[in-house]
Amino acid sequence: MHSTMQTWILKTTGQNSTCSILLGEQVLESLPEIWPKDCGRAALIGDDEVMALFGDRIRRALSSCAGQVLSLGFPAGEKSKRREMKAKLEDQLLAAGFDRQACIVALGGGVSLDLAGFVAATFKRGLASIYIPTSLLAQVDAAIGGKTGINTEAGKNLIGAFHMPRAVLIDPSLTLSLPTAEWQNGLAEMVKHAVIGDAALFSAMERLALDLRQPTRISPEMMRSSLEVKIALVREDFLEQGARAWLNLGHTVGHGLEGASGYRMAHGLAVALGLFVESRIAAFRGLMSAAEAERIEDLLKALGFDLELPFDLDRISPHMKADKKNRDGAIHMVLPVGIGRMGRPRDGGYSYAVTEDEIREAWPA
Ligand SMILES: NC(=O)c1ccc[n+]([C@@H]2O[C@H](COP(=O)([O-])OP(=O)(O)OC[C@H]3O[C@@H](n4cnc5c(N)ncnc54)[C@H](O)[C@@H]3O)[C@@H](O)[C@H]2O)c1
Ligand SMILES: [Zn+2]
Repeated sequence: MHSTMQTWILKTTGQNSTCSILLGEQVLESLPEIWPKDCGRAALIGDDEVMALFGDRIRRALSSCAGQVLSLGFPAGEKSKRREMKAKLEDQLLAAGFDRQACIVALGGGVSLDLAGFVAATFKRGLASIYIPTSLLAQVDAAIGGKTGINTEAGKNLIGAFHMPRAVLIDPSLTLSLPTAEWQNGLAEMVKHAVIGDAALFSAMERLALDLRQPTRISPEMMRSSLEVKIALVREDFLEQGARAWLNLGHTVGHGLEGASGYRMAHGLAVALGLFVESRIAAFRGLMSAAEAERIEDLLKALGFDLELPFDLDRISPHMKADKKNRDGAIHMVLPVGIGRMGRPRDGGYSYAVTEDEIREAWPA
């Protein structure tokens, strides 16, 4: 292994599998080392944009491991994350005679990983997979934790499976070609990770906020810190029955905003606004200080997020009421008790029941 490379092994309890997560700019050179010994063929699956950008390079790297590489592209964008696209990919694999001695190599952002990962989860009852995330959001978030799935008319990510890839190869230099809007989506999740579990990462982001606004080389230390927050929670609670729910910070209000916008609002902005409102709720409740909530607001603004709320609460609450964390008709959300620390309510759970009046009180005028 290259000396500047970070490696984590993620073992899951529910599934009898381990996943190696490798971080570093030479990470693609490790493909032969982590290649599943039982796999002769590879299917490289990614959207057309990332295939055009990185396909040749990945195929070259794969040529030393897999006897044969089949490349399957699909149109970029969230609308490809649907049943019909999964079926089409599966039919292509079947037509090419793929059996269980094959590995799915998923290349791209969260859409490519969720879709190709779901194909891997169910093709012939489960194939090995390797993820090569190329968006910042995929590198720090979607690639970690084994959740795969697709959207339906009824909602996002409603059909899917937990299926751990054998390995995740994270080369931070791949994200330099991202459009700024996509970069911002990943930044919001990094702020979320910092608030959940790493005050030092939060401070580092404050110091570097202006540089971080556009795609830039994020230091390996900051990437590692962000990854470690998610890895620790997935390790503790793979099937999301407890602490993994903390990763929903900012997303209760965020999903409400996305729903109210007809899913036209960028996910990163929705999460940024969600972090802003939810930390104010935590401050109004006395869980965290008003000064800490203000630091969160200031960091988000410094990173370039416009925290002007585009809808009032009445437009958003019907969507928040549909959230899967809710119990007994009450809106539930996870809340921080400080920067880098999450709270647990007295009932021993992980999310707090929050009334609409409380949300209204915290809603910025
Ligand atoms: N499985 C999970 O745990 C998990 C977690 C978070 C999000 N997600 C899912 O991830 C999806 C969002 O992922 P995303 O934001 O990466 O979107 P995406 O996959 O659509 O990628 C965004 C755009 O950037 C392009 N792109 C990707 N890498 C690039 C690069 N290096 N240079 C230039 N362009 C590049 C893509 O082609 C695409 O057009 C959502 O569907 C969400 O549900 C899953
Ligand atoms: Zn998110």
